[in-house]
Amino acid sequence: MEVAALLQEAQKAQQKSYSPYSRFKVGAALLGQSGQVYTGSNIENSSYGLSICAERTALFNAVNQGEREFKAIAVKGSGKGFIYPCGACLQVLAEFAPHLRIIVGNEEDEWEEYLLSDLLPQAFNLSTQEG
Ligand code: THU
Repeated sequence: MEVAALLQEAQKAQQKSYSPYSRFKVGAALLGQSGQVYTGSNIENSSYGLSICAERTALFNAVNQGEREFKAIAVKGSGKGFIYPCGACLQVLAEFAPHLRIIVGNEEDEWEEYLLSDLLPQAFNLSTQEG
């Protein structure tokens, strides 16, 4: 699947954002090894800390449908800037896809690509802690 198509899915997901508090809509599209795309948006709560980011919504959606291996995620936010997944989302994504390609797009149809390991070089991994 092409980057542009994955970004388009992320943009579609952005429309489903429930973000009355920040008014900042984010959409994510996660490409599974199977070729299936799973989307998510940020979903906020009046108890702010219970809000969830678009990336984790997409990942949990995918895992809940049986997919556990992933190739890439595209993330789209409102505004000129690129939306980089937050630290919590990077850690959660690393659980399933430590080598994930991360594509960040802006409203001007520009994009950049990174590897998860560029953005979170030392993800916590319980298996490395066990003797
Ligand atoms: N947000 C995401 O959904 N993904 C990110 O990568 C960064 C932040 C959401 C969380 C909150 O609903 C809003 O953006 C403002 O922080």
